[in-house]
Amino acid sequence: MADLSTNFLGIKSPNPFWLASAPPTDKEYNVVRAFKAGWGGVVWKTLGEDPHVVNVNGPRYGAIYGADRRLLGLNNIELITDRPLEVNLREIKAVKRAWPDRAMIVSLMVPCEEAAWKRILPLVEDTGADGIELNFGCPHGMSERGMGSAVGQVPEYIEMVARWCKANTRMPVIVKLTPNITDIRYPARAAKAGGADAVSLINTISSITSVNLDTMSPEPSIDGKGSHGGYCGPAVKPIALNMVAEIARDPETAGLPISGIGGVTTWRDAAEFLALGCGTVQVCTAAMTYGFKVVEEMKSGLSQWMDEKGHGSIDEIVGRAVPNVTDWQYLNLNYVTKARIDQDSCIKCGRCYAACEDTSHQAISMSEERVFEVIDEECVACNLCVNVCPVENCITMEELEPGTMDTRTGKVVEPDYANWTTHPNNPGACAAE
Ligand SMILES: Cc1cc2nc3c(=O)[nH]c(=O)nc-3n(C[C@H](O)[C@H](O)[C@H](O)COP(=O)(O)O)c2cc1C
Ligand code: SF4
Ligand code: SF4
Repeated sequence: MADLSTNFLGIKSPNPFWLASAPPTDKEYNVVRAFKAGWGGVVWKTLGEDPHVVNVNGPRYGAIYGADRRLLGLNNIELITDRPLEVNLREIKAVKRAWPDRAMIVSLMVPCEEAAWKRILPLVEDTGADGIELNFGCPHGMSERGMGSAVGQVPEYIEMVARWCKANTRMPVIVKLTPNITDIRYPARAAKAGGADAVSLINTISSITSVNLDTMSPEPSIDGKGSHGGYCGPAVKPIALNMVAEIARDPETAGLPISGIGGVTTWRDAAEFLALGCGTVQVCTAAMTYGFKVVEEMKSGLSQWMDEKGHGSIDEIVGRAVPNVTDWQYLNLNYVTKARIDQDSCIKCGRCYAACEDTSHQAISMSEERVFEVIDEECVACNLCVNVCPVENCITMEELEPGTMDTRTGKVVEPDYANWTTHPNNPGACAAE
């Protein structure tokens, strides 16, 4: 059976599934139950200085649902832990002592002054925690007080605080990045420049999930007023994957360990983050939606897939997809495909026809008997029909063999790879050659 154990910055855990810093990791009771359920590690809910913060006393969450009311996106206006520092530290120490084989990372957010970091770091070190994660990500509440994403949006601050932490603790330092920034490579580079051992991402995305049209208040509404919150859950996974990939393939940060976060709900999500260079993954919304036992499915699914593929250990997966992430200009223009409709599984709904006819290339015909067929002479292979078809694998894309004629362009498909950099229509083609 595949070995799921991980060694991230020297921090060992029996599997790569860590709970992200959030309500599931806010107290001993939760974390002990999580460990009993099989989670490999936790990042404790972010600690701050005393006096501890206060949360609103009304609703904290907003949500986006799929048609079956499955939770796709969750928005929150919660702050960092609202329990006294001493209570959290005591509980962290007790849990780490009782569960030495699990990863215990402590998330921290204190004012942007070295003295504040110098005060809190020895206290955390004393708990026996395995490492710290610097929360430079929360987009609400704390950012207005000069912390969270207010730090994470300024690479110079990231570098400065990471350096303070490295100078004042022997624990590994993970910098948690905010996605609320134009180019994620800059804060990642800054973290590395400051000596951080790793980055984790993403924290939540600034968002307003909905507006109540009776009260004209954004949700969640607190006495008729709403504030932007942080968005997470399955809906943010594509954004997180891209940001992770950008860091993994940036020559300046390549090889920097990454803990991947954002919408991980199944083993497959986790495998994708690992393949894009993450040494561990962190989970929040899936645990908040389905409970701690979701980790069982994640572990068994990942392990089964690894066995099927012959991957003996997590290290064999990490980064495997990174070389295949490229820029548009390097995509093979001689790779030609056409849509193919499997008439046996087609339920004749006509969605493919509507999509292609109205918004794509008029490449699907509809007969009076509602038989839908692809017109190769028009099909540009965009695969919109595949994406709108409600029947999985009913429409597939078929590659044209080199040497065959593409009836749309009238050109024979070339066997060789050719991209935009050398295309005759590219004004910069000569320079690229
Ligand atoms: C209610 C709530 C509270 C959170 N609090 C924190 C926090 O205190 N510190 C932190 O670094 N991230 C916090 N997060 C962000 C998560 O750790 C995580 O980065 C984010 O939810 C994305 O992961 P997910 O899609 O699995 O939920 C919070 C998220 C939620 C939903
Ligand atoms: S791949 Fe695009 S162009 Fe071709 S049939 Fe489908 S929607 Fe139309
Ligand atoms: S969308 Fe799919 S199921 Fe519907 S008509 Fe087209 S091929 Fe058939």
